[in-house]
Amino acid sequence: MHATRSPRRPRGWWRHGVVYQVYPRSFADGDGDGTGDLAGLRARLPHLAALGVDALWITPWYRSPMADGGYDVADYRDIDPAFGTLDGAERLIAEARALDLAVVVDIVPNHLSARHPWFLAALAAPAGSPERARFHFRPGRGESGALPPNDWRSEFGGPAWTRTTDADGKPGEWYLHLFTPDQPDLDWNHPAVRAEFESVLRFWFDRGVAGIRVDSANLLAKDPALPDLAAVADGSPHPYVDREELHDIYRAWRRIARSYPDERVLIGEIWIRDGARLARYLRADELHAAFNFAFLASPWEADRMRETIDASLATADRAGAPASWVLCNHDVTRTVTRYGRADTSFDFATVAPGIPTDLALGTRRARAAALLTLALPGSVYLYQGEELGLPEVEDLPPHARRDPVHFRSHGENPGRDGCRVPLPWSGQEPPYGFGPADTRPWLPQPGNWAPYTVEAQEADPGSPLWLYRRAVGLRRSLASLRDGAFRWIEAAEDVLAFRRGDELVCAVNFSARPQPLPAGHTVLISSEPAGDGTLAAHAAAWLVPSPPAGPGRPRGHTSTDGNPW
Ligand code: GLC
Repeated sequence: MHATRSPRRPRGWWRHGVVYQVYPRSFADGDGDGTGDLAGLRARLPHLAALGVDALWITPWYRSPMADGGYDVADYRDIDPAFGTLDGAERLIAEARALDLAVVVDIVPNHLSARHPWFLAALAAPAGSPERARFHFRPGRGESGALPPNDWRSEFGGPAWTRTTDADGKPGEWYLHLFTPDQPDLDWNHPAVRAEFESVLRFWFDRGVAGIRVDSANLLAKDPALPDLAAVADGSPHPYVDREELHDIYRAWRRIARSYPDERVLIGEIWIRDGARLARYLRADELHAAFNFAFLASPWEADRMRETIDASLATADRAGAPASWVLCNHDVTRTVTRYGRADTSFDFATVAPGIPTDLALGTRRARAAALLTLALPGSVYLYQGEELGLPEVEDLPPHARRDPVHFRSHGENPGRDGCRVPLPWSGQEPPYGFGPADTRPWLPQPGNWAPYTVEAQEADPGSPLWLYRRAVGLRRSLASLRDGAFRWIEAAEDVLAFRRGDELVCAVNFSARPQPLPAGHTVLISSEPAGDGTLAAHAAAWLVPSPPAGPGRPRGHTSTDGNPW
């Protein structure tokens, strides 16, 4: 039986709520085949409810050969058998809703799987056929057509073109793929492509999903001339990034979202740094929100973080959209590892193996970052395992690796498997409750993850899980964290401090020495013990004004000499 619709879900969860990203393959395995699935996720929904999040975003769960972890979709209207069934997905959506959790699904419109019926039909059809017109097929260059049609490179390394073989066995046309050859790009000038994705949106909205994450949202439109990048003049539009035609596509999608009586939301994956360009996707008749990758990419330094926060709030203001805060996802190095390095910024181009890492430092900083992030105005996106302080797994054996990024870089880039290792839930050894006792997870878990399990952390009030649960809970219950105006307040060097509303102060110490806390305040929550009126090194705290002092009761912390507050 399906759970009944709950009227309690607050409108605007996407404006100030916390969204938890589920990578289903690695979340929880219900049937013990080593791959996470919907049964596992459904059984673990209480963990998400206890964490206090408002929504879950589930990365692709559709039928897929898994050439890119499911971002190679063979059927947008069915669930991959490794994960479960469509009926199971509908039950999950209903059960989540009964727990006040909105469900966001991931739609991949730039490309589909090379095993999708459209692409199989295109390969079987001759050059110039209508079947090929839904993709970017072109003859090669050079006398025998042996050179790719242009100089575009795949986002994952290597050329963005692959040559096909004709029915007679001779080399044929080339097709475009901005990612792997298993992910042919669709031609968004084709009306059937637009119609198909509009129908897919309705399919999932009709099944009760509250939102859609739009994969690679700024790459769909291509210059039909497919010019060489080297030939594009400075200042001219890029032939495939952030093109004007995209906005019309998203206006049509917004009309679909608006055609539902309750709120349906579109969230864009848009990797562009320029805030003014990003804001254009967030106009009132386009996407509702976009991930804030500038925040994710920023180094953990007070000045840089402050600049990024200011720029992000300005972008959101300009667009009338909520700001969003993201530190981690299934594509990037896990936060505690990245923050334990000399260079704490993130850039796909610089991901490399063997970078010296101080995990204890990274963990302190990530705890502080959790309190910073959860105190900012807007929505917060957490990636599964972030609430456990999981580190990146950097020593996966070569035979275990699956990520095409690793293989296409010929091993130079470790790829993204290290942030996708199955979650530890309980017990002392793999599979740590990820699945039944004899489960062999699809990526091996480290032998030292016992302290990271949900079970171990539930028993430890000093654990990341307790910190996240308390902070997310406070964020839900304190009106100032939902609606309170944001205002920086003066603080010592290497400390960022801001007020939300009239009451709440968030202070973050980026330095390696303790810093004084403001006088007259009481600590609500802190990422490290804060008992003596100081904020520990690499720590953050939320404070509220102390109640008026009664006889014999000191007012909050005593001010120290040189206290800047
Ligand atoms: C997005 C996804 C990533 C995937 C890529 C291609 O960036 O987050 O995981 O590989 O799109 O679909």
